[in-house]
Amino acid sequence: MTKEFPINQNLTRVVPNIIRAYDDRFSQIDDIIKLTIGEPDFNVPEVSKQAVIDSVTADDSHYAPALGTIPLRHAISDFLLDRYDLNYSAEEEIIVTVGATEAIYDTIAAFVNPGDKVLIPTPTFPLYESDTLIIGADPVLIDTEKDGFILTADALRAVLDEYGDAAKVLVLNYPGNPTGRTYSADELKALAEVLADTNIVVIADEIYSELVYDEPHHSIAEYLPEQTLILNGVSKSHAMTGYRLGFIAGPKPLIKGPALVHQVAVTTTPNPMAAAATVALGTPEGKAATEEMKVAYKERRDYLVKSLHELGFELENPEGAFYLFPRILPSYGNDDGQFAIDLAEEAHVATVTGQAFGPGGEGHFRISYASSLETLQEAVARLTEFVNKHA
Ligand SMILES: Cc1ncc(COP(=O)(O)O)c(C=O)c1O
Repeated sequence: MTKEFPINQNLTRVVPNIIRAYDDRFSQIDDIIKLTIGEPDFNVPEVSKQAVIDSVTADDSHYAPALGTIPLRHAISDFLLDRYDLNYSAEEEIIVTVGATEAIYDTIAAFVNPGDKVLIPTPTFPLYESDTLIIGADPVLIDTEKDGFILTADALRAVLDEYGDAAKVLVLNYPGNPTGRTYSADELKALAEVLADTNIVVIADEIYSELVYDEPHHSIAEYLPEQTLILNGVSKSHAMTGYRLGFIAGPKPLIKGPALVHQVAVTTTPNPMAAAATVALGTPEGKAATEEMKVAYKERRDYLVKSLHELGFELENPEGAFYLFPRILPSYGNDDGQFAIDLAEEAHVATVTGQAFGPGGEGHFRISYASSLETLQEAVARLTEFVNKHA
């Protein structure tokens, strides 16, 4: 007889991620160009590789302080001061985490109880909803499609009117996955004004902050410092996804909860990876490496946006990250699943269906341009044939 093991019922609320399912299916196709992955195609900067080697050679093998190594926390503090003119104490207001992924869990877990609402503008990265469900709270998905994938102050006000004090947390991800859209300083100020009258904690996932192509990136923490936790890391800015180093920065009263979750769940982060992140964020070489990647991403974005427009795709302006989120061809109506399947099976170009990113995502597809320009040029050639056949 098979045993029925106990299960935390919250786990049963989490829907398996369909991005993986599509990716597995498309990976079986011969000669497929995969524009599915949210992962830089660059190598880790040389200074960071050397820092790992030096850390290992120096037998830097003991537990770091719970909040992360002191040099890394100082590098993060300096980084935030340099970018946003914000002061976070390296001793007390920064937590080094296992990627932004852990930072998302730590922060949501710290502020909600069963029945509480976590406000999540969509379409978006699926983890916020999954984490909220695992923790036992309720996600409130706010469809932003009609506003060009930006949460407006009016839309936020309407949601707050509906949920009142049950709303505990707002997650804002910008530049956004999957849309590439970001918020201007004025848009952030308008949201901050609405939020200032509430006790809501803002979790600002700014993992793509270094990849904004036209205007400087602003953090909502500049306008709402006492209510905001900034989440960031080196995964995207320094092509260090596998090094698993991220961070949370926020004022002392807000950082205590996430720090406790972090300590209980992971104790601390690995020293060699912390050394790599320290030089990535804290040296001119680290900054130059990001600049080099940014130039390449911008060239790819400009090429793809122009090509997609020429092919007749509707597309909101993607200011950052490395994603485009166009509407599918009108001949497919709103069926982004079938569109992505046909595009993969007939044209051998794999993308991600928009519905994977929640309400407002249907009828769209996500293209990741974390691939070489040559690969993107071949993808556009294939896409052109596909459009000619299906338009
Ligand atoms: C918006 C967003 N946040 C967080 C992450 C995860 O970052 P990390 O690899 O640092 O855990 C991703 C990865 O794709 C992402 O797109």
